[in-house]
Amino acid sequence: MMKNIKALLTASLLTVSLLAGCSGGAASSQAPASSETPAAQSSAAASASESGETFTIGLAQLVEHPSLNTIRTSFTEELEALGYGADKVTIDYKNGQGEQSTLNSIAQTFVGNQVDLIVAIATPTAQAMASATTEIPILFSAVTDPVGARLVDDANKPSGNITGTSDSIPVESIFALAKELRPDDKTFGLVYNLGEDNSVSVIKETKAYLDANGMKYTEVTVANSSEVQQAVQSLVGRVDAIFSPIDNTVAKSMPLAADIALKAKIPFYTGADSMVEDGGLATVGIDYEELGKKTAQMAVEIIEGKAISELPVATMDNYRVVINTETAEALGLDVSGIQNADLVTTKAAA
Ligand code: TRP
Repeated sequence: MMKNIKALLTASLLTVSLLAGCSGGAASSQAPASSETPAAQSSAAASASESGETFTIGLAQLVEHPSLNTIRTSFTEELEALGYGADKVTIDYKNGQGEQSTLNSIAQTFVGNQVDLIVAIATPTAQAMASATTEIPILFSAVTDPVGARLVDDANKPSGNITGTSDSIPVESIFALAKELRPDDKTFGLVYNLGEDNSVSVIKETKAYLDANGMKYTEVTVANSSEVQQAVQSLVGRVDAIFSPIDNTVAKSMPLAADIALKAKIPFYTGADSMVEDGGLATVGIDYEELGKKTAQMAVEIIEGKAISELPVATMDNYRVVINTETAEALGLDVSGIQNADLVTTKAAA
């Protein structure tokens, strides 16, 4: 039995290395942006610019944290690179300040202004936009589990007004990496916001994985980012390691949370690279710059007249192993044996 588990873990770590080997490559689903859109298909942007009007995008972001900012920046840059700069597209950017009520009023504003397209960064944002309109097309970005979040029924064939890009992650690869780094760790602390469907899906998968592999977990949930430090502190002395999924609430407080774990010499694994750059130990995750670009390519397809039902949800599967060497060193870990890892250091607080 023990042997089987080991073989399984080794096998999945191997997959990580192989996948990581293609990091830097394009996303598998990345197709050149609508090069085949028939000219006959009426182009909203073209007709808008003929009449001197621009195409309007309502761009909503849940909260400002490094990863979501990266997505927004690469989205707007790629849109411009594809020929849809400020002369053709007006972007109305609004930040939800991490509040559901703010997101709801942003959604009302976009609907009231009759924007041509809504782009929603992160799951709670997309959910707020989705409940405000079934007419205006909604393109989400970085929604971990669009089906679990009830945004689409079928990710391959969206039936409503919603599609987008997903940042789903390989949970078992993260735990295989954890096993490789500290083979004796048996009890994991799980920190996340129960109100984020993106986290709930990953945690469900995490628990199933830990149960199946004879490991234990203790979970602490938070309702907002001011509770994160205390949640991490409460795990000190009770767990061998900590894991947080791609949780926006934890990400917002990650520098402080990582610091508490580090002082207690506890490895902190995460679902996103930015959280490793904020002091976490390691992740196996996606490249958010690529995700932002892919979102822009889909936006161009919509601007040029493609129907939502013809745009399947895009996932990124060129996963990267990301390790923070400063954190590893402080924990006394040797990471030189981990292949194809992107090594990063802790970013100075902004
Ligand atoms: N995937 C998250 C969601 O569905 C959004 C997200 C993107 C995120 N990058 C992140 C969350 C980094 C935390 C850290 O809402």
